[in-house]
Amino acid sequence: MPEKSNNDSQLRDILSHFDQSAKAWNDLYTLPTSANDVVLQNRLAFALELLSNHLPTDSTVLDVGCGPGIDAIGLARRGYKVKCVDISPQMVGLSKRNFADCGLIYSDRDFVVGDFMQADFGTGPFDGILALGFLEYQTDELAVIRRFRELLRPGGVLIVSGPIKRSLSTLFGATVFIRGQRGGKSLTVNRYSVGRMTQLLAASGFQVKDFVRHGFANFPLVEKNFGLKGGLWLQGFLTKVSRFLPIKTFCNDIVVAATRI
Ligand SMILES: C[S@@+](CC[C@H](N)C(=O)[O-])C[C@H]1O[C@@H](n2cnc3c(N)ncnc32)[C@H](O)[C@@H]1O
Repeated sequence: MPEKSNNDSQLRDILSHFDQSAKAWNDLYTLPTSANDVVLQNRLAFALELLSNHLPTDSTVLDVGCGPGIDAIGLARRGYKVKCVDISPQMVGLSKRNFADCGLIYSDRDFVVGDFMQADFGTGPFDGILALGFLEYQTDELAVIRRFRELLRPGGVLIVSGPIKRSLSTLFGATVFIRGQRGGKSLTVNRYSVGRMTQLLAASGFQVKDFVRHGFANFPLVEKNFGLKGGLWLQGFLTKVSRFLPIKTFCNDIVVAATRI
């Protein structure tokens, strides 16, 4: 049995948080209510682009922490053969419903409910792993990345994301980020820089090939006073500025493509 990355009490908190916030996670992809929701939509678009740059579209991909299945639907629509895992039964239920609503054929074996570290996937190794919004909730990140490696074939591709440590919103102390924001129990969230993500991956047998830093959201005062429009305007403005000035170090999120050595 692989080692655990979170203890039982942490796993219970993660399960309860995401079971309670499953509907909100689902809805943000169709009906964004904050600029951060749009950053999460963009995260998926960047991740799919990175993956298709490095992995042919008929490959097998494991979606780790699949949530409501929107990432997996993006994968399936591009022709990847997808398997999903999530600890939250509510999330997996939504994933299956979303697959069915999109007319995508799936088998129950393609959706595993449980802790990623202990789950039995029956098949493998996979050609690719997608883990968006997942690593930041894991206490022992190195153990998780080692498990990614075990499940990938040599040369397989990992796409992993994480929130940036020094985002503008955290620097200005204005963030509400994910801690209880969408309902459910507050969770501890790890944060990253390009350097830290590269170090964690290199220490676990991966080579970083590419990365995207993006998003300038989570300014509650702006959205309180100027609504979603104001938040989106600021996000768009700072994204344009980031093409000329080196402010991407302070954006919200990083998506990394790495290959298993
Ligand atoms: C922030 S959500 C992201 C969902 C999805 N990847 C997306 O981008 O919309 C994180 C998901 O990871 C799941 N998760 C967190 N820790 C987990 C673990 N140890 N094993 C399995 N799933 C886990 C949660 O239940 C949740 O659905």
